Amino acid sequence: MTAIRGAVSEPRAAALSLSGVTKAFEGLRAVDGVDLTVAPGERRAIIGPNGAGKTTLFSLISGEQPPTAGRITLFGRDVTRLAPHRRAALGLARTYQITNLFPCLTALENCLLAVQALKPVKLHLHRALDRYPDLFARARAVLEAVGLQDKEGEAVRNLSHGEQRQLEIALALSGTPKLLLLDEPTAGLSPAESHLMTALLKKLDPAITLLVIEHDMDVAFQLTDRITVLHYGKVLADGLAHEVKANPLVQEIYLGKLETSRRKRSKP
Ligand SMILES: Nc1ncnc2c1ncn2[C@@H]1O[C@H](COP(=O)(O)OP(=O)(O)OP(=O)(O)O)[C@@H](O)[C@H]1O
Ligand SMILES: [Mg+2]
Repeated sequence: MTAIRGAVSEPRAAALSLSGVTKAFEGLRAVDGVDLTVAPGERRAIIGPNGAGKTTLFSLISGEQPPTAGRITLFGRDVTRLAPHRRAALGLARTYQITNLFPCLTALENCLLAVQALKPVKLHLHRALDRYPDLFARARAVLEAVGLQDKEGEAVRNLSHGEQRQLEIALALSGTPKLLLLDEPTAGLSPAESHLMTALLKKLDPAITLLVIEHDMDVAFQLTDRITVLHYGKVLADGLAHEVKANPLVQEIYLGKLETSRRKRSKP
């Protein structure tokens, strides 16, 4: 049984709550007064054109960048000034828009490092890693959760781009997160790889609260119940998928975006 510390007075605390969250880079307000509440177990997509502030918003939530203003709570606890590793200890994990793996290590070694980094296990230099069966069991479990159990001995640089993105999800799962932030998990994937990734994400433990930045509207609609649209750092729309889809402003900016990305993709 896991009890959330401090949850006695707030048993239904939101998994994540942002209030007036702002990030200014000199003159530019990349994130501009964002209010957002995500319920435990909810699956939420964040969409919006390039430069809308989506990745910056994730960096504020994970603590990699401090907000200029506003308040962030995780499971009812104010984390606005908390260091990233302290937020991770509260159950937060994220993946990045750009691949962030050790290319010369194997898939299993990447997972072992991630598992070990989050567990208070003291490694002894002169003891072989296989003397730590719990670490191996956890590393293999996360590889299996993303369908990479047959690739554990493969060096990352030999994995396909799609498999590398799957491995990133495995790393994020290493610490048994309660809130998982995924930054464009299908970016750069072929339609078949994207389909596989979507299926994999749909099968994640439903207890994990999921926030996904996703450019592909179809993927966003398949994965999540609610969509938040960011535009110039502000929340332009927020609601159930069909409501957001019907919003004329969203159609205008988002269809414009899709046209741009189609043009980019069609370049040789
Ligand atoms: N460290 C930084 N310093 C200055 N400006 C920044 C910094 N990080 C982001 N920005 C600017 O903030 C704005 C939002 O960037 P961000 O990367 O959050 O957008 P995004 O919605 O993730 O875009 P994309 O869809 O292209 O990934 C952009 O104009 C970007 O150039
Ligand atoms: Mg981004």
